[in-house]
Amino acid sequence: MVDDKQFDTLLQEKRVFRPSRDFSKQAHITSMAQYREMYEESIKRPSRFWTKVANNFHWFKKWGKVLEWSEPHAKWFVGGETNISYNCLDRHLTTWRKNKAAIIWEGEPGDSRILTYQELHREVCKFANAMRSVGIRKGDRVIIYMPQTPEAAIAMLACARIGAPHSVVFAGFSANSLRDRIDDCRAKAVLTADGGFRRGNIVPLKKNADEACKGAKSIKKMIVLRRTGNKVTMKRGRDHWYHDLMENASTDCPAARLDSEHPLYILYTSGTTGKPKGIMHTTGGYMCGTYLTSKYVFDLKDEDTYWCTADIGWVTGHSYIIYGPLLNGATSVMYEGAPNHPDPGRFWDIVEKYNINIFYTAPTAIRAFMKWGDDHPNGRDLSSLRLLGTVGEPINPEAWMWYHKVIGGERCPIVDTWWQTETGAIMITPLPGATPTKPGTATLPFFGIVPDVVTKDGVSVGPEGGGLLVVRKPWPSMLRTIWGDDARYKKQYWSDVQGCYFTGDGARRDKDGYVWIMGRVDDVINISGHRLGTMEVESALVANPDVAEAACVGIPHEIKGECIAAFVTMKGANRKNDKLEKKLKEWVVKEIGAIARPDYMRFTDALPKTRSGKIMRRLLRDIASGADQVGDTTTLEDISVLQSLQQYQDE
Ligand code: PRX
Repeated sequence: MVDDKQFDTLLQEKRVFRPSRDFSKQAHITSMAQYREMYEESIKRPSRFWTKVANNFHWFKKWGKVLEWSEPHAKWFVGGETNISYNCLDRHLTTWRKNKAAIIWEGEPGDSRILTYQELHREVCKFANAMRSVGIRKGDRVIIYMPQTPEAAIAMLACARIGAPHSVVFAGFSANSLRDRIDDCRAKAVLTADGGFRRGNIVPLKKNADEACKGAKSIKKMIVLRRTGNKVTMKRGRDHWYHDLMENASTDCPAARLDSEHPLYILYTSGTTGKPKGIMHTTGGYMCGTYLTSKYVFDLKDEDTYWCTADIGWVTGHSYIIYGPLLNGATSVMYEGAPNHPDPGRFWDIVEKYNINIFYTAPTAIRAFMKWGDDHPNGRDLSSLRLLGTVGEPINPEAWMWYHKVIGGERCPIVDTWWQTETGAIMITPLPGATPTKPGTATLPFFGIVPDVVTKDGVSVGPEGGGLLVVRKPWPSMLRTIWGDDARYKKQYWSDVQGCYFTGDGARRDKDGYVWIMGRVDDVINISGHRLGTMEVESALVANPDVAEAACVGIPHEIKGECIAAFVTMKGANRKNDKLEKKLKEWVVKEIGAIARPDYMRFTDALPKTRSGKIMRRLLRDIASGADQVGDTTTLEDISVLQSLQQYQDE
């Protein structure tokens, strides 16, 4: 699994940025002393700490024990009964927030909607009843394959309300990927739309969903939102229009009393095998984790207009567009489209239009903005911004500095937040009023989180040493298992380093204890902040009848962080053929989705392998990234394979 590679120490970054006095003064956490005190309490007296957090919420039934831990299984707020949809919505209706904007939505074509807490609550109740009217019940899995519209948020909250675990599938995924997910969780229903807008084009979501559902025995119902107005075919008995069901739905839908450990959602993410993993999150602990991180990491206040640019198809959209902000009674902005549609100034138009105060995006977007030029942000009024965040991949110091200067006007703290689909909530992060930041590091652990950088044997490495990033104690928002595959859950996360959760990331800790993430140590590629397993793309390639063997590696990419280089052996004697290359790239897009399209493809007669038959991806990585020298080749079975690949590279 994990190889013993050591991590080279990155370029030393010496710049330090302290929060301004003005920012600290108004922040929830105002100093490092306060951070340390609260951190210490969260570690030494976790029950007391998390009880205080959980007491912010409505519980139908109070829990007994705060944590029951039997490695690797955690139960938080044992025996308690609550409902996250209730806590996101109903809880605010008896306060002045009743008429506060919960979601401000901007459509790609320029349409917009604002839903107050009261309005959102009404829509969620109606849609929960609509789902019930077609037979969806507590425990049924519901796939959400929708564009980023308010109805997608309504659907998630409605599922949570009735206790039907949702599984949001990113609308950029293909019909095949959707089918895999439907089959894996044996979903009963798919919620989709006639289409979604993407850079002015229409993505045929309903058509994809129809294709995915062919032969999917578990699917009984499909609910279709009218978004783009394109023609679709509706299957009688199975398909219903969203608006038809909503027309007669009652607004009265009390939230279901759910066990604290009731599954809230399953979200698929890539691992080291070809099969995506259904990461399962539950209710009470996830609620506390997303609430608290949203509050402190984003220094969220009632007056703020907060915008997380993620897609709800990813965990960031779940935790930081929907659940975390709404639990805080915040105003969350949601944008449907691409950052460069109709032009590369679109994000900054939105910041100006809504006077965004807090802006959370990904390094890949920041690098794209850098490339598109300063004129776009400089031409807009960004003075409302007071805090910036990033997530998804390491941010290079150059991009950090650009974000700081051009977007933040040198006045906004930047929170570089490290976490994962599996962790549910932010784990390592600065607190903006307290933590001095350094470009390129996510800095220090959040409350309740005990990360460590260790050797394969679990021994902590000293300052400046590189190693494996692990978490030593359970935390409330952690995944509970992999849906339907608890053995894989144990193996994947709890077997590499004894007694610890292994993140799959390599890291280094500097003399101040700051954690510098150094990327994945397994065969996972991070493309534009989205994880893809090399095996997944390889499986897609070898599913093509003409392909004999394939190996994929991640190589550095200026904007995307990493991109895919694929090495392919064909069954016939095909080499270096542009048409074939195009055909195979399209094949991968059809199998998985556009994010998996390989940027580079090389045809080869053989792949470099060890004597035991394992493909030596490390060598392929060196070759694909154009390194003059490849690493250690002593375990290579046939050196001539490498020589011919290198030669081919030089051609
Ligand atoms: O490698 C780390 C990287 O993204 C992985 C998690 O990906 P995913 O589950 O898709 O979730 C992304 C959004 C939470 C991590 O294992 N990663 C995430 N945030 C950072 C990061 N790498 C460096 N710095 C970050 N801030």
